[in-house]
Amino acid sequence: MERLGVRSLYLALGDWQSAPGGSLATRMASALREAIETSVLSSGTVLPAERSMARDLGVSRSTVTAALQLLKADGYLEARHGSGTIVTAGMVPGSEPRRDRSVIDLAESSPGDARALPVVGIDLEALLRSGSASGYTPAGLPSLRRSVADRFTADGLPTDPSQIVITNGAQHALALCFAQFAEPGDCVLLDEPTYPGLIDLLEARGLVPIAVPRHSGAIDGGLLRTLAESSGATLAYLQTLVHNPTGLTGDDDALDRLADSIGDLSLTVVEDVVLADLRFDHRRPSPLAARMMGSSAAGTAAQVIVVGSVSKLGWGGLRIGWLRADVEQVDQMLRSRRADDLGSSIPSQVISTAVLAEFSVLAESRQRTLSRRAALACQFLETSFPTWRFTPPNGGLSIWVELPSSHAAGAVVEAAAAAGVLIATGASSSVTTSGAQHIRICFDRPEPQLREGLQRLARAVDQMTDRWSTVNPS
Ligand SMILES: Cc1ncc(COP(=O)(O)O)c(C=O)c1O
Repeated sequence: MERLGVRSLYLALGDWQSAPGGSLATRMASALREAIETSVLSSGTVLPAERSMARDLGVSRSTVTAALQLLKADGYLEARHGSGTIVTAGMVPGSEPRRDRSVIDLAESSPGDARALPVVGIDLEALLRSGSASGYTPAGLPSLRRSVADRFTADGLPTDPSQIVITNGAQHALALCFAQFAEPGDCVLLDEPTYPGLIDLLEARGLVPIAVPRHSGAIDGGLLRTLAESSGATLAYLQTLVHNPTGLTGDDDALDRLADSIGDLSLTVVEDVVLADLRFDHRRPSPLAARMMGSSAAGTAAQVIVVGSVSKLGWGGLRIGWLRADVEQVDQMLRSRRADDLGSSIPSQVISTAVLAEFSVLAESRQRTLSRRAALACQFLETSFPTWRFTPPNGGLSIWVELPSSHAAGAVVEAAAAAGVLIATGASSSVTTSGAQHIRICFDRPEPQLREGLQRLARAVDQMTDRWSTVNPS
């Protein structure tokens, strides 16, 4: 392994500081990426220690850390225990990605591992300062509740920390909401397609889903209203800002219209904004809850509980999410929570507080990474599968693909799994038959892995099609 001197690194990076656009960290990351892609820095090269890089390049250590983190997230660099940071293979133009026979998971719509997390340490001092003496805090760490409340306030939804409950991920927050607002046998409206974990939850609780199909990606307030009135449903689950599985985003006009059309219904809306931080245009529109407060609907009756988490911005393994509700509802949900668990992990909450403190840097870098990965996946799909239909996502982690009738979704998923790549059937995201001809592909994986996964998918579909035409010659 070649150990790079700082002088060679300096030469390899060129005049990176005066390159246009982005923070110092993103400019340093771009220069490093280019040096790797053009083989100026070859695979296996060990970079100098972060501290010496910072000193010799005349920038702060945090700039270097953030730049390296971006490239680790994309699979250009790898941290190896005892060796330092190493340039990894696979990104040289024209070269084949490494052939890794382990299964590639493009089915789970979440960061593939913890590399998007900023480098945050946790020590006894941090735990002592955390504000949780005994460690039992059913409502959550005060510092984290405040950070979450401040984020909602900044997004146009004034929030006091007492309105926040920190939970074990958003799934837990959704479970608390459904336990609070629905009885077995009740109807629940949901925008379709939807997040598969929600379908599991409805099934487990004996709730009856009523699909509100999205029209051109948007939630149709008029249809929601009609279905609420005809079914008598008093609970709805909506993904308003960025949608899993389609990756489509809600725009201001559509969200205002939705608030106006349902504001006067006796409806509790559970608004899932788990993917809200992942818009590729870097915008953060206000959630529906904020718009309902200012809705023109006479005597607004609908109430909105907002659910979020750090799982998609940072890592699902932290298992930290939250809900925002009125203080009375918070009290009731805490009462029912205490019967099941006594609060979320304090170390995870301390790390999540640190993640939110770095929110803008982290969100910007995640959004850039995701938008690059989405573009790569879309381009691959367009070239390799011209008959497959999808709308390129403008946020989120996945692409929702409609297959031609000649390709059964189940068969494609099975063939892909046999070839070593997992993708999800559309049926797992639908409560009607509308998803039967769809698949969901998650693109949030390091680029070499994503490329390899898509190539396996293409080979699997080619073989499937060849077998089909041998069995059914025209
Ligand atoms: C839309 C949506 N809501 C909720 C969740 C659950 O997130 P968490 O990991 O925070 O429980 C997910 C995870 O995939 C999701 O995509």
